[in-house]
Amino acid sequence: MRNLHMTDRLWNRLLSIRNGADALRRTEAEAAMTLYGPVASARGGFVLAQVGQSLDGRVATPSGDARDISGPDGLAHLHRCRALVDAVIVGIGTVQNDNPRLSVREVSGPSPTRVVIDCRGELTGDEGLFHDGGAPVIVIQGHDAQKTMHSADVVQLARGAAGLDPNDILESLSQRGLKRILVEGGARTIARFIDANLVDRLHVAIAPVIIGSGPCGISLPPIAQLCNAHRPAAEVYSLGSDVLFDCRLKSEDRSEVRKGEKIRMADDAYAIVAANL
Ligand SMILES: NC(=O)c1ccc[n+]([C@@H]2O[C@H](COP(=O)([O-])OP(=O)(O)OC[C@H]3O[C@@H](n4cnc5c(N)ncnc54)[C@H](OP(=O)(O)O)[C@@H]3O)[C@@H](O)[C@H]2O)c1
Repeated sequence: MRNLHMTDRLWNRLLSIRNGADALRRTEAEAAMTLYGPVASARGGFVLAQVGQSLDGRVATPSGDARDISGPDGLAHLHRCRALVDAVIVGIGTVQNDNPRLSVREVSGPSPTRVVIDCRGELTGDEGLFHDGGAPVIVIQGHDAQKTMHSADVVQLARGAAGLDPNDILESLSQRGLKRILVEGGARTIARFIDANLVDRLHVAIAPVIIGSGPCGISLPPIAQLCNAHRPAAEVYSLGSDVLFDCRLKSEDRSEVRKGEKIRMADDAYAIVAANL
């Protein structure tokens, strides 16, 4: 496991790569660069999904309290991810439960455009993100959604039996110049992007807390046998208060992802990078 040592120099360099003022060099093998470099340097589209969860895989209590699961370093990590993307996506369940700001506060850097998937047009307009003066908000709805009760930019997409196609969501954002995307939750929203094989990296930050009951961070259609589970290649980082699994989820051949690649500790990944320098 690699320790993540973030310094002002590395963070400013990542922001500069994110802004296109600089390019990622192959020789940069610091943990901060191998972890954040891929999203910061992506130009043609990149989807990062992030879950902050307890040791027992929960992201909230049964009554929906989700505020303090991640430790301070897990929270800083989440805010770094937000600062490096163009847009952050959440489902309406997260907005209704958490009333999140989705802004960057724990680190320096820009706050991303906020995107809420509200397929049936159920947002009331009273939700905090419409009134906090923060980054722009885009609401993604089905073509037949109810009349909107807010002033956000609304994108209406064709709604099928399974709801909105995540490919259409990404395409509509790409047309607005929003290509680096953080899918922040909740479980049902992340699941749809994973199931559509659209997630390049999945970050699972685990905090040493046991909740015992409550929703999980990812909820996919059931499988009968473990051989059909996703077993992505993963690199492991100690953030400090939390441990992070950086999983390479996307595969050209989905059956290969499900049949399994081994989980690799980041030290091994570092050795491979170093050997190739
Ligand atoms: N710790 C963390 O990292 C973290 C982050 C975010 C949220 N959370 C927690 O997660 C919980 C909320 O999760 P959730 O799964 O209930 O809600 P959610 O994913 O935020 O929102 C689910 C809603 O969005 C809809 N939706 C999502 N993608 C859609 C699509 N492509 N097409 C149509 N509809 C779509 C779902 O429709 P369907 O009903 O049809 O599925 C459902 O109505 C809260 O307790 C929150 O605190 C934790």
